[in-house]
Amino acid sequence: MNNNLHHAMNEQLSNWAVLYVKLHHFHWYVKGPHFPTLHEKFEELYDLAAEKLDELAERILTIGGKPLSTMKEYLEHATLKEADQGGNEANMLQLAVQDLQALVAGLQTTAKLAEEAGDDATTDLFVGQIGELQKQIWLLSATLG
Ligand SMILES: [Fe+2]
Repeated sequence: MNNNLHHAMNEQLSNWAVLYVKLHHFHWYVKGPHFPTLHEKFEELYDLAAEKLDELAERILTIGGKPLSTMKEYLEHATLKEADQGGNEANMLQLAVQDLQALVAGLQTTAKLAEEAGDDATTDLFVGQIGELQKQIWLLSATLG
């Protein structure tokens, strides 16, 4: 039982959950000349968030922890902020890149905790998520120009 690690993992789970909803906001409300591309891209990203949050929650269970599972808890524990209303496609794209970067930083810190705890499988899980997010950041940044 490693409470620090469990707490940090729940914080990242909460970030994924907040991002999952926020990406739906972007998917539904994005407006502008790149609508079709961005509408589709945000869908791809919320699907990724759904997959990753489930993977992370089940890892927390596997190592004897309790994944947070309500929106109230996610909002209390997440370091990412919910979407504001409004915003054009450029803002949304920029916000999405910033959030993915913040999530990567959180995952990196948590991966270090897992490594210090000698939990290689949890470290690997985070390293995998970080790699996938970094690729998405690159793809989104290329769209930003
Ligand atoms: Fe849709």
